[in-house]
Amino acid sequence: MNGKKVAVLGATGLVGREMLKTLEQRKFPVSEIVPLASPRSEGIKVKFCGEEVTVHAVNENSFKGVDVAIFSAGGKTSKQWAPVAVASGATVIDNSSAWRMDPDVPLVVPEINPEDAHGCKKGIIANPNCATIQAVVALYPLHKEAGLVYINISTYQSVSGTGKKGLDALTNESFAWARGEDVKCEGKAYPHQIAFNLLPHIGPFDDEGISEEEWKMVNESRKIMHIPDLRVSGITVRVPVFRAHGESVTAQFKNELTPQRAREILKTAPGVILRDDPKNNIYPLPIEAADNDAVYVGRIRRDTGLNNALAMWVVSDNLRKGAALNAVQIAEIL
Ligand SMILES: NC(=O)c1ccc[n+]([C@@H]2O[C@H](COP(=O)([O-])OP(=O)(O)OC[C@H]3O[C@@H](n4cnc5c(N)ncnc54)[C@H](OP(=O)(O)O)[C@@H]3O)[C@@H](O)[C@H]2O)c1
Repeated sequence: MNGKKVAVLGATGLVGREMLKTLEQRKFPVSEIVPLASPRSEGIKVKFCGEEVTVHAVNENSFKGVDVAIFSAGGKTSKQWAPVAVASGATVIDNSSAWRMDPDVPLVVPEINPEDAHGCKKGIIANPNCATIQAVVALYPLHKEAGLVYINISTYQSVSGTGKKGLDALTNESFAWARGEDVKCEGKAYPHQIAFNLLPHIGPFDDEGISEEEWKMVNESRKIMHIPDLRVSGITVRVPVFRAHGESVTAQFKNELTPQRAREILKTAPGVILRDDPKNNIYPLPIEAADNDAVYVGRIRRDTGLNNALAMWVVSDNLRKGAALNAVQIAEIL
């Protein structure tokens, strides 16, 4: 394969830095890397393949000659710059929520719907929400066997899901607590203290009290798995963990599916690692998933309240499979 000129917009952010690392680790054929960010980052250096590369503020000429532009710089930035990148001839892979529900933009998890990536009418492919990706990677192989009808998901989402400011909030509050000082919430990342706390609040709420993150899980799960009538419910919660999201997942099926059969299926499912021996303290943990590629699944058991239903615990690194890795896998398909 010929080398590609690859732009990374948001290269100074948590996802952008992970993106550079992932392109390098997976030996994506990069002929030239173009790291981009806001004017705040003009001139700073990031590492790629052992070299220091200069970051530039994104502008009208940034995408000249670029083959693939991977965006992780927020929805507004994406709305502004994705059409510019496409007009310059690049294919955009976007990590924000700006384009995900556009009918002309495929929403792709390569283990599930890689073929959708080729039907990209606008030149933009969307990377799903991090919490949704790990859930569908675990659920889709079970859906193929028994037919999903309903899922309920409670998330335990790490602070890196909020970007740099989320990491800063947990770090600063934890240090203040350790020094015996008052723990002050600066309010940049969260409306309340996150250290030693749980916040049932990810994104703004609508008039029914459902959060934006909860709607993402409903709508994106249906679109990725091509199950428009799938019933989805749940709650999304921010937890004081630095990296990797956990999810309590209940899934109801049309046909019977035993926990044993689910384990057999997930043992060989793409992108999944089974960690399911609870009597020996083996189950998925965020500290094990952090900085790793897989979606870890365990605690698979019969749901005690629903017919034809299983409950399980799913953990994955939100910056890897939840963002950078999934985006690079899409670029590999292209
Ligand atoms: N964190 C996750 O787990 C995760 C998972 C999936 C998707 N995402 C999505 O990925 C995107 C980035 O998330 P993150 O966690 O990496 O956030 P982050 O650490 O806060 O980084 C944000 C990046 O966007 C850049 N940026 C902000 N405003 C910009 C502008 N007006 N023009 C150009 N660049 C701009 C920043 O550049 P400066 O440094 O110059 O400000 C920085 O590089 C968001 O859309 C987020 O929803 C994040």
